[in-house]
Amino acid sequence: MEWFVSLAPIFNDLLTDDGSLVIEIGNAWEEGRPVQSLLHLECLLGLVNNPDSDLRLIQEFISYNPSRLPSPAQWVTVNRLRTVDSYTHVWWMSKSDYPKADNSKVLRPYSKSMQKLLKTKKFNAGKRPSEHEISKSAFTKNNGGSIAHNLFELEPLDNNREVRLPHNVLSFSNTNSNDYFLRRCREENITPHPARMHAGLIAFFIDFLTDENDLVLDPFAGSNTTGYIAEKRNRKWVSIEISEDYAYDSIIRFDDPDLNTSLKICSKNRGVA
Ligand SMILES: C[S@@+](CC[C@H](N)C(=O)[O-])C[C@H]1O[C@@H](n2cnc3c(N)ncnc32)[C@H](O)[C@@H]1O
Repeated sequence: MEWFVSLAPIFNDLLTDDGSLVIEIGNAWEEGRPVQSLLHLECLLGLVNNPDSDLRLIQEFISYNPSRLPSPAQWVTVNRLRTVDSYTHVWWMSKSDYPKADNSKVLRPYSKSMQKLLKTKKFNAGKRPSEHEISKSAFTKNNGGSIAHNLFELEPLDNNREVRLPHNVLSFSNTNSNDYFLRRCREENITPHPARMHAGLIAFFIDFLTDENDLVLDPFAGSNTTGYIAEKRNRKWVSIEISEDYAYDSIIRFDDPDLNTSLKICSKNRGVA
């Protein structure tokens, strides 16, 4: 925790005034006890209260993974005392109250009922039980999609899986760009990085918080999902990874024919030309 909190001034110095820091962090459990740890909260408070940085929490997102294996196994599957821990926290932070952001760049597709409503323009205006006043023109304008929520559902690779959340919760189906990487790993007999981030999650924040040619930094890059998505979205990127093997293996991402890039990295010699 001290190590994590000590990163605050470093992140602070690296960020532009309108830049954003996005951190994904999972839940932890007290050792040997069916009690959830508060470590993530201590980390968050440590970051925002660090006297050598101006970081603040802009908004918290929850990333729900319906395919998460039961954990903590002892308390979920053996003793049956707790439910499956199936989400991570995603903290969007900045050193100003107004980091660059545009939610119109990350619209969700309209639900079927909303599409119907936009077509027929038939709905009941007036007061709802929630006290919201719905005006006569509220649902007549097509804005290209609805505004994203701060809850993500991560889709597994199987697109036929039944989705058991309200249908309009933001979901990342069809955005999992790990496919090419995994296929190449199989072909080349490489064990894929065990903790890859969901590409849709990274794409969401890059689209939402940056413009083309902005710089995206991932200091703990692993298989470099971030660099791959940044390249795909025409952002400049810098990725740092302590393990030479992970860094080396990640280079195969840039052979992806779908990646329209002039970047001269190629896995043939796994070097940068
Ligand atoms: C959770 S993984 C990141 C996975 C990545 N988001 C992806 O999609 O592949 C964290 C990575 O940080 C690396 N790491 C740990 N300490 C580091 C350090 N001090 N400097 C750079 N990388 C580090 C680990 O080797 C690991 O690959």
